[in-house]
Amino acid sequence: MITSRTRLDRYLSSQLKINRRDVRLMLAQARVRVDQQPATEIHQVIDRFSRVEVDGELLSAARPVYIMLNKPAGIVSATSDEQHRTVLELLPKHLRENLHLVGRLDYNSTGLVLLTNDGQWSRTLTLPETKVSKRYRVHMAKPITEHCVRAFAEGMYFPYEGITTRPAKLSILSSHEAEVILEEGRYHQIKRMFGRFQNEVLELHREAVGAIELDPGLSAGQWRFLNEDEIRMPGILMLKPGASLTTT
Ligand code: URA
Repeated sequence: MITSRTRLDRYLSSQLKINRRDVRLMLAQARVRVDQQPATEIHQVIDRFSRVEVDGELLSAARPVYIMLNKPAGIVSATSDEQHRTVLELLPKHLRENLHLVGRLDYNSTGLVLLTNDGQWSRTLTLPETKVSKRYRVHMAKPITEHCVRAFAEGMYFPYEGITTRPAKLSILSSHEAEVILEEGRYHQIKRMFGRFQNEVLELHREAVGAIELDPGLSAGQWRFLNEDEIRMPGILMLKPGASLTTT
C-alpha cells in the first residue's frame, strides 16, 4: 500500500520490480491508468487512494473513509484504551482498520468527533495555520460574566505550555450557558479557561468543526459517513452571521 504521496514511476518500479527505464517505456506505451485516466507522465504524483491499473490489472486502490460520530460522555477519544470504551468501538468492526481521530474530546465531553483514514485531510483540519474553528456549547456551574467574555477574546497565558491562547469567541446564551468558538485545541482548553474564573464546566458539547456541523439526526453514540460537501470544504471557517473572533 502507498502510505503517503509518491511519484508514479517510483511506485511502479517498486511494485513491479522493474527499473525506471522500463517504467518510462510502459508509460509511453499508455499501459498505465491512474483514476481511470491514461498516465504518461513519470512525475505524476499519486497517493494511497489513487486507483492505479497496469494493462487493465488493478495494482492499488484504498478507499478513503470519512466519518462523523456523536460522542457520548464516558467514552475515550482514542483508537485503543486498556480501561474504557473508545469511539472506535462505536463503529462496526469492518470499518475500524486504519482510522484515526481528527482532534479529541475529553472523556466527559460530548458531540462531534471526526474519524478518517486520510492523513492529508485530517492534517488540513488540525494544522494551526489553517485556523479551523471548533464550536462548542457549554453549561457552567456559575453565571458567565462579561469579564470572562473579554478574557476569552484577549487570549489567556498558559504557563505550562508557555503560550497565549488565540482570540476565542464566547457568546453568552443564558446565565449558565454559552457558545465558545476556538481556532485551536489545547489540552482541556475550555475547562482551563473557565477555571481561571473558578467556574466549572458541567457539560461541554462540540457542535461543529469548520464547516462540518454535527448532524442533529445522530443521537449519542450514532455515526454516519460524511457527504461530499462536508469532505470537500473541511477548512472553511463558519462563524454565525455577525460573529467574529475578536472583540469590537
Ligand atoms: N476543551 C475542553 O476543555 N475539553 C474538550 O473536550 C474540548 C475543548
